[in-house]
Amino acid sequence: MDLNQIKKEAQESIQKCQELTALDDIFRRYLGKKGSLNSLFRTMSDNSLQDKKILGKQLNEIKTELEQIISERRKQLNEKLLSQKSKGKIDIHKPGKRFKIGHLHPLTKVIYQMEDIFQTMGFSVIEGPELETEYYNFDALNIPADHPARDVWDTFWLKDIKKGNKSLLRTHTSPNQIRYMEKHHPPLRIIVPGNCYRHESTDRSHGFQFLQIEGLMVDKEISLANFKAIIQKFCELFFGPDVVFRITPDYFPFTEPSLEVSIMDKHGRWLEIMGAGLVHPNVLKAVGYPANEWQGFAFGVGVDRLAMIKYGIDDIRLLYQGDLRLIEQF
Ligand code: DAH
Repeated sequence: MDLNQIKKEAQESIQKCQELTALDDIFRRYLGKKGSLNSLFRTMSDNSLQDKKILGKQLNEIKTELEQIISERRKQLNEKLLSQKSKGKIDIHKPGKRFKIGHLHPLTKVIYQMEDIFQTMGFSVIEGPELETEYYNFDALNIPADHPARDVWDTFWLKDIKKGNKSLLRTHTSPNQIRYMEKHHPPLRIIVPGNCYRHESTDRSHGFQFLQIEGLMVDKEISLANFKAIIQKFCELFFGPDVVFRITPDYFPFTEPSLEVSIMDKHGRWLEIMGAGLVHPNVLKAVGYPANEWQGFAFGVGVDRLAMIKYGIDDIRLLYQGDLRLIEQF
């Protein structure tokens, strides 16, 4: 573009400009590092020495001139602003408008807090796929096909892509015990947060999608005493030092013995918060750990349930509706 044209255009927009911020934009457009004048300076090396001298001089003149009128215009606009203020059009004593900033969803808060607690006890946070195979979700966890225990996990099966390797949406985070142990040697301590899915009708305590955190600790001599110590610490840090919890027997195919942990609410009722147990020898066998050498405990916590207990929410579905009237309370 020709120099005079650029100059004319710049002058016009400076005169028309009514806002200080818009003036800054104009400055950047013409005089900034990547502005039009600078790019002309840069292309100058293509010209002959004689031309360069003339062009360089012109460019410098225009630059100085534009700088000057921009700073004059800035002064004018500043004065205009001040006179508006003194006429009371702008109340400078008014408090500023508060910016609305978002915050974490209660479920995310619970997950982060649990991650913090377990990390202080030496657990690493691991993730795994939501689209699982039948092998990891069931077989390797000691839940063979046709075993009635499978009925506990109402499953969303996917159409088979590869023959012989049925896919599903994971019904729990437990498959990650297998995935992690296959690739790592003990001793190990992990937790695995993530979404799980079950093909069941929803009500105030069941969703077809929900969150779990899996835990796994394997070492030479791990017993239920270790489990109790870790869970006690977790409950105290998560619910407060006065928490009352109990451990009772349960059944899961991948643990032996299997347990359930509950805490007492303020009405004296027991609320189940997790399933757990000592890792079943068949599970250790499935990942190829030498028999009798390693022992461990595992647990699976319902994150939604913890959030509901902690925040006094009585319907799990509320946690997934994105309704600001609920979310903004936390
Ligand atoms: N996967 C179980 C479920 O979804 C929960 C569970 C129970 C996980 C016991 C564990 C465990 O690791 O040891 O019902």
